[in-house]
Amino acid sequence: MTIEIPAPAKVNLALHVVGRRPDGYHLLDSIVAFASAGDRIRVEPAEDLSLSVEGPFASALAGEADNLVLRAARLLQAELIDLERPAPGARIVLDKSLPVASGIGGGSADAAATLVALDRLWHADFGTERLARLGGRLGADVPMCVIGRAARVGGIGEVVEPLGPLPAFDLVLVNPGRPLATPDVFQLLERRDNPPLPAPPSRFETLDTLVGYLASARNDLTDAARRLVPEIGSVLDRLAADPACRLARMSGSGATCYALADPGRGAGIAERVGGAEPGWWVSAG
Ligand code: C5P
Repeated sequence: MTIEIPAPAKVNLALHVVGRRPDGYHLLDSIVAFASAGDRIRVEPAEDLSLSVEGPFASALAGEADNLVLRAARLLQAELIDLERPAPGARIVLDKSLPVASGIGGGSADAAATLVALDRLWHADFGTERLARLGGRLGADVPMCVIGRAARVGGIGEVVEPLGPLPAFDLVLVNPGRPLATPDVFQLLERRDNPPLPAPPSRFETLDTLVGYLASARNDLTDAARRLVPEIGSVLDRLAADPACRLARMSGSGATCYALADPGRGAGIAERVGGAEPGWWVSAG
């Protein structure tokens, strides 16, 4: 039996930094959505735990002995052992299509998909809430990736309030090809006490409503990230100048940026941007 679970890119449509905890973690107020682009996790029964990585960005993870995927698997095993339930092994394959260290939660999405896949393979039946809580021990973004729905996110990432269904849109993701370590970006912040997001409407009825709302919000990590990777400015300028782009912003701690477009118009943006900048990673969807 093989179980395959998608690990879609997490996109921060808006991200306000509103405080800092005594342990150094930052308090966030963010709107997240999930793209159609993503990695994939496949698991099948085996005696021991093993991980192999394939796909376009596999080499970026080579040599990373303690991948977040294996840590997720071991965490679920340990929970089962605590409950005196069988904790078998698994052969895990990670198909890595997302650039690493790029602000779209790749590692967190992979860890979340691993928890979901192994929960099923091992008949743990922990349910989404418990898996999300477990995921919080692996990284601040893992709980929202386990839930996997557009949401307003608070705390350091663990308070996830799903939004109602969003209007249809295309989300084009563009990365200039430079990895960016999240702690480095947070460290360069000049302000950590910014105002929270404006209150979202009870439902984003139309794309105009969503674009209007997001236009009044920010990504507070953008300036710090741009100081480390100035190409982020070029990506944002190019996206914003495209005739089909409704809004362009950076996601997470960067360097990936997104363009929001009317349904069906994302592919055109991706073609134009990818054609002009062949060195950039571009994904439409
Ligand atoms: O939790 P995760 O391992 O994804 O976070 C990576 C690093 O990013 C943390 O060690 C911390 O330095 C920073 N971070 C933060 N505030 C958050 C999330 C992450 O300062 N809410």
